[in-house]
Order: sequence, then structure tokens, then C-alpha cells
Amino acid sequence: MTEGLASRLARRVDARLRSLREAGLLRTLRPPTGLDLSSNDYLGLARDARVVQALVAGAARDGCGSTGSRLLRGDRDVFGAVERRFAAFKGTERALYFSSGYLANLAVLSTLPEKGDVILSDARNHASLVDAIRLSAADRVVFPHNDVAALDHRLSTISPGSSRGGDAQVFVVVESVFSMDGDRAPLGAYAALCRAHGAALVVDEAHAVGLLGDRGSGLIEEAGLDGDVCVSVNAAGKALGVAGAFVAGPACVIEYLVQRARPFMFSTAPPPAVAHALDASLDIVGREPERRRIVRDRATHFRRALASAGLAVPPDHSPIIPILIGENGRSTRVADLLSAQGFDVRAIRPPTVPEGTARLRLSVNVSLGADAIDRFVTALVGALEAATPWPAVSS
Ligand SMILES: Cc1ncc(COP(=O)(O)O)c(C=O)c1O
Repeated sequence: MTEGLASRLARRVDARLRSLREAGLLRTLRPPTGLDLSSNDYLGLARDARVVQALVAGAARDGCGSTGSRLLRGDRDVFGAVERRFAAFKGTERALYFSSGYLANLAVLSTLPEKGDVILSDARNHASLVDAIRLSAADRVVFPHNDVAALDHRLSTISPGSSRGGDAQVFVVVESVFSMDGDRAPLGAYAALCRAHGAALVVDEAHAVGLLGDRGSGLIEEAGLDGDVCVSVNAAGKALGVAGAFVAGPACVIEYLVQRARPFMFSTAPPPAVAHALDASLDIVGREPERRRIVRDRATHFRRALASAGLAVPPDHSPIIPILIGENGRSTRVADLLSAQGFDVRAIRPPTVPEGTARLRLSVNVSLGADAIDRFVTALVGALEAATPWPAVSS
């Protein structure tokens, strides 16, 4: 790049950064400090000694890097073993492991839907699903969040690709527990609609796997819908405490992803040690169901404490609790005031959430005690009062 071009780009980038700052949308990188009220380590497995030890032993055995794509020299026995284990946990024929949930969503939605197909996507789906759908050649229709009647209407009125000569497919894509609102999708009603219309249901279980259902495998299990979901995507860096994601589903669909999904084919396989760590983490999920019960009870306590303090809390049972603030700058001021008192909460702003709905996203983990929750609620009320909206500057 010549000097002139470089400085033109630098000026443009500076202007973009300035507008982000003016809109209260500038992010800062800040490692964890203080009490964890914002991570996705719901079950406390990220620092569990058994999981860490499995990772260390796995690295000693299989090395640090996988050195290539799974389809080249990057495959290891441990990947196949943990995939078989995850498929059994999920009650599906097969599972395939990816190095992140983002990549797994890209893989599913850029590979299975084809030109002439239609993807119906919930309006609050995670950015990784939105990006994945953009990569797909299928048509995209967004339906209002968690609106069964609207989905029914869309399914009854769309007619996917006549050009495909009868094999056109409709996909319905949702999260089971929504990452920024903490509410659940009405999966049972969606499954019935998909059955009636021959649509394929794709469910992102990022914030449900490890937490819901008797086995802890997610909302699909809890709702008894094992046979109704085409594929699920299960992030392994949240409740499972490690990294990556499993796509779980019928053997033919998983085999097709192995053959054709570009994020699987053209990316170096994850470090094998991570699969060893996931094996240990799945052991704990199976053997220590009380962890999910504690998280559920603490989340109920948290919601009640917030409601008693006069704060509006959505009535749900997931460990994700949004505190709606609205204005971007105010949400960061509240978060900063709380951080200064030792509470690690983060402001969530657009584009992660819709304009005008900046919020604190509180999350409950197994180590968060009732006393700490009560102290936090008192501090939150004080911070909300202190961080009143700044008056508009008159010119
Ligand atoms: C609903 C949802 N899907 C997918 C992802 C992406 O998963 P990963 O962080 O493993 O890339 C996230 C993570 O933020 C998520 O919340």
C-alpha cells in the first residue's frame, strides 16, 4: 500500500472509531477481575482441577497443535472418541467437533441449506447464526422473536424454490436459550410446526448444553424432542468449560459436513488436548448433576432478589439475567461503577443487542453464593441511581 492510500485508510478508520466513541459503543479489552457475574462458566468447569489435568496430560500425550485439518494429518483418536461420547450424551447418531461455536454454525448453515431453500431465522439469533445464514445460498426470512404464530404463518405461506424440482427444503433456525435475553425458545411448538410442514429444525444449544435436561444435554432433551431436531450446535466453551463446539445429528448429515463443510475442511483441527479436557468435563457433567441444580436455584434466588429490589426481571429460569438499561453510555457507567466495587459485570450494547436495549447481562455460576448475590443487588440499585442519564448539552 502506498503512503497516500495508507493515510487515507487511517483517516477513515479514525473517523469510524470517533463515531463509535460518540455513540457510546467503544469496547475495551479487560481481563477478568472481581466477582464473576458475566462469564459463561456456569458449572465452574473452566478451572476444575480434573479438567485442567486432563488438558495437561492430553498435551503431553498428543502434542500442542494438531498440525493440520482433520482431513489431513490433524486427526487424532481422541476426537473420534469424544465425538462418539458426545453423540451418546445428546442421543444422536453422530457428532462432529469444531474449534468454535461460531465455526460450527458457519459449517452447518453454509453447507446444508442450498440455493432455492429458505431459512427462517429468529430475530434475536446470535451473530454467528446471522453470519452463517448470510454465507448460505438459501433465501433468508426473519421471524419475530419466539413468535410461534408468526412462524406458523411464514411456514404456511412460503414456497421454497420451484427451480429445485421438489427437493427444496425449509430450515427453521433458533437458539434454545437466547444468549442475551436468557429466555427459552418454544421448541416443542416449533418441532410440531416443522413436522407438519416438513421443515428441518436447527437448534443452537450454546447456553443450554450442560445445564438443562436430566442428563444435562440441553433443552432438546428437557423438552423430549430428540427425534425432532435436524441438528443441534453445542458450544463447549460455556457450561462445559473448555472450547469448541459439537454439531450433533443423524449420521448422514454429519458425514456430509465432514465431506463438504468448508470450516471443517479448511481449518486446522483444534489442539487435541482440548478434546481430552472435554472428556473430563463430560464425566463431571454426568456424575455431578447437583451443579446444574445449584445454578438453577441460585438463578431463582437472583431473580427474586432483583424483583424485591424493584428491578424488572424477565420471568425465566435460565442463568442469564438481562438488566435492561437502554442508553449505551449509561450501561457502561453502571458497569464501571459496579466493577469499581469488585463486581465483574459487562455492558452489552449494539450490535450485540438491538438499538436502544443496552443492558447488563448477568450470569449465574455455581460458585456464586446467595450472600454475594444479595450484596451485588444492593450495589446494582446504587449504581443505577448514581448513573442517571446525562442531561443533553444545550448549545
Ligand atoms: C448462542 C451462541 N451461539 C454460538 C456462539 C459461538 O460460540 P463460540 O464462542 O464457541 O464461538 C455463542 C457464543 O458467544 C453463542 O452465544
